[in-house]
Amino acid sequence: LSYYCDKDRKYVVDTLLNGLARLEYRGYDSAGIAIDGDTDKEVLIYKQVGKVAALRKHIYEEEKEFDFVYHSQVGMAHTRWATHGQPSSINSHPQRSDPSNQFTIIHNGIVTNYKEIKTFLSNKGFVFESDTDTEVVAKLVKYIYDTQRDKNLKFHDLVKAACKELEGASAFIFKSTHYPGEIVVYRRGSPLLLGIKTEKTLSADFLDVEFSNEIETPDDPNSEFKIPSYAKRAQNQMFTSESGEQSVEYFFSSDPSAIVEHTRRVLYLEEDDIAHISSTGNLQIHRLRREDGMSSIRSIKTLEMELAEIMKGSFPHFMLKEIFEQPESVVNTMRGRVDFTNDKVTLGGLRNHLASIRRCRRIVILGCGTSYHSCIATRAIFEELTEIPVSLELASDFLDRASPIFRDDVCVFVSQSGETADTILAMRYCLQRGALCVGVTNTVGSTISRETHCGVHINAGPEIGVASTKAYTSQYLVLVMMALQLGEDRSSMSQRRKEIIQGLKELPEKISQVLTLDNSLKSLCENDLDGIQSLLILGRGFNNATCLEGALKIKELAYIHCEGILAGEDQHYNKSRSAFQQITARSGNPIVICNTGDTDMPEKTKTIRIPTSVDCLMGILAIIPLQLLSYHLAIMNGVDVDFPRNLAKSVTVE
Ligand code: G6P
Repeated sequence: LSYYCDKDRKYVVDTLLNGLARLEYRGYDSAGIAIDGDTDKEVLIYKQVGKVAALRKHIYEEEKEFDFVYHSQVGMAHTRWATHGQPSSINSHPQRSDPSNQFTIIHNGIVTNYKEIKTFLSNKGFVFESDTDTEVVAKLVKYIYDTQRDKNLKFHDLVKAACKELEGASAFIFKSTHYPGEIVVYRRGSPLLLGIKTEKTLSADFLDVEFSNEIETPDDPNSEFKIPSYAKRAQNQMFTSESGEQSVEYFFSSDPSAIVEHTRRVLYLEEDDIAHISSTGNLQIHRLRREDGMSSIRSIKTLEMELAEIMKGSFPHFMLKEIFEQPESVVNTMRGRVDFTNDKVTLGGLRNHLASIRRCRRIVILGCGTSYHSCIATRAIFEELTEIPVSLELASDFLDRASPIFRDDVCVFVSQSGETADTILAMRYCLQRGALCVGVTNTVGSTISRETHCGVHINAGPEIGVASTKAYTSQYLVLVMMALQLGEDRSSMSQRRKEIIQGLKELPEKISQVLTLDNSLKSLCENDLDGIQSLLILGRGFNNATCLEGALKIKELAYIHCEGILAGEDQHYNKSRSAFQQITARSGNPIVICNTGDTDMPEKTKTIRIPTSVDCLMGILAIIPLQLLSYHLAIMNGVDVDFPRNLAKSVTVE
């Protein structure tokens, strides 16, 4: 996150720390901030292991002499999830070029060739203080600055020269004492968006910023894109208040949740964009390489996200809030897409590609973690309704195998964040091989939603809890809806489709009914599951995925050994009921999730009863008790469920 404004330093620090707290769900092993010092030539860096609260405490309590008066313009802040080097103050960001903080940078992603650059710079006399790949980039920029000083390079030229040397997927923010009041950012492979806040509404002219190829630097004339003069005029008018003072604030963030309380006007940077804010508040976007065919239009979009969506409200944890949001989130997923009168599903994002999808040789559905489980949950209904062979792939394993993909394959990429590195790489692999690529994500503007040919947003609203809950049920739902739409030309299936669409209609109400079990699930945890060492979750058919996903939640949150097992896998147990009897006979302690009307259970059996729905939607209802169970078990075990140990919400490096 970085922030440009004409406010005082305390305001900058507070804005950055508050924004950082909203980004914390993406990584929380350490945090850091860089702000302007008391003079133009000074940058202050504060870093702390642990959560953002620890950094805040460090700045406000321990730094007694910290003075907040100075008029400041540019700050940057970062919350880290360690990839290179263990969590420590020295390894957290910002990283710097030298002890006088001439260049400070923050970075998401990974620089894969950092070792080569580190060796090169070490030979030039640079001394490294951290184990990170990021520090290499800060020092590389300084090296270029030192060696090309006579050329009077602009800040973005310097960054451009450095970034041309880097490999891997990253987003960077740069600040320098040599360029006070300026920010340069670069994105390739990791998300980065720009938020613009002005006192007045932006003029329509400015909404679709058009970049021209006006010459800007003598070195690299054609690679420059500038806001054309008409837009610049509009910008200057808009960004200047009556008193003649600047009134624009800029935010760069990897995620809209950090900035939505300040502005909804955002511009998503494209791959290889270098954005530059000058000390007078002018925004320019440059390209890393000239004439690379990228459009020169960057439109400014309006975020749909509401601030309340990223706040906990009256719930003690985001996870619980998100579990309880499911009656609404599934409605939002279906909104405007399911016509219950005519039994028809229309996913607008697929409209132009329906014929090609129906003609394909096979559908490959890919994802990681919980998203992958949603693929498992819906494979059977996909095959049944579309009569197209479906294969499932865990994105990482698919890449490791370099599995064959052909032009007549359709590949569906399921990712809540749209930024999981393995899923993105699998998508690019399939794009290269000419397959039709479809995205299913919860994040508008994410890499997967931008780079696939077509797709569906699950519209579950932001999911902040690290453990995915409402995104799972909405992904599940979207995949069922896709199958319904793709299969609508098969008249033999029309009765089955009707039955499922009726099930969709009743789903929100049935989810609400399941949620009423919360108190009894909590008691079950306290009375029957306290201190347990191991839990097995058995099921089959449409509930196979429920077992895997339920077990994942319990393992990740409660740190209890838990396995999801296909109850019919063993040849002796061809029905779940028979598995249940075997467990009882061996003095196991079964808890049965069954339907409300099920009278078949022996009297004293512990049951969690959920409403009946059409078979292929039962997995949506059945996962909810397990989500709640994992939540309560985690609380009992003293785990901070929104920030479980060693677990990131999405893994944006390979
Ligand atoms: C990581 C997280 C999982 C998540 C998976 C996929 O492995 O720990 O909880 O399900 O990434 O994330 P995505 O954003 O692609 O759905």
